[in-house]
Amino acid sequence: MIDKNTLPRVAYEMMNEVHYEEADLLNRLKQTLNEENLNTAKIDGVLNELLEHTHEHFFNEERLMQEISFPAFTMHQGEHLRVLNEMKRIVNQWQIDRDPKLIRDYFLGTLQEWLMLHINTMDTITANFICMRKGC
Ligand SMILES: [Fe+2]
Ligand SMILES: [Fe+2]
Repeated sequence: MIDKNTLPRVAYEMMNEVHYEEADLLNRLKQTLNEENLNTAKIDGVLNELLEHTHEHFFNEERLMQEISFPAFTMHQGEHLRVLNEMKRIVNQWQIDRDPKLIRDYFLGTLQEWLMLHINTMDTITANFICMRKGC
């Protein structure tokens, strides 16, 4: 479970709200995976929401970076693209073999750790730059 209080906060508030929503979805995925009987349709539903939300999350940050001509745009966008493709690959694999361990290990392990690190580094620097250019 991601405790929202432990989620790193960035200077641009709109980005924090989106990160909280992402944490909510990851927590919902965990609850669904922990249900006594594996409900694949329900897991598929949460995964779809998570993919859509992440797509929007990344797209909005990229739009903001372009608006302010953020110098490290390509690097930040490249990292988003890498992770989004990785998420899609894992979901596709899950749809083939229906192994909940794959989803648990990736979404509640690898991705969750990446999210914390990403917010602490690239998102933090980006938010500071947005605030400098647009004000907060
Ligand atoms: Fe972000
Ligand atoms: Fe980001």
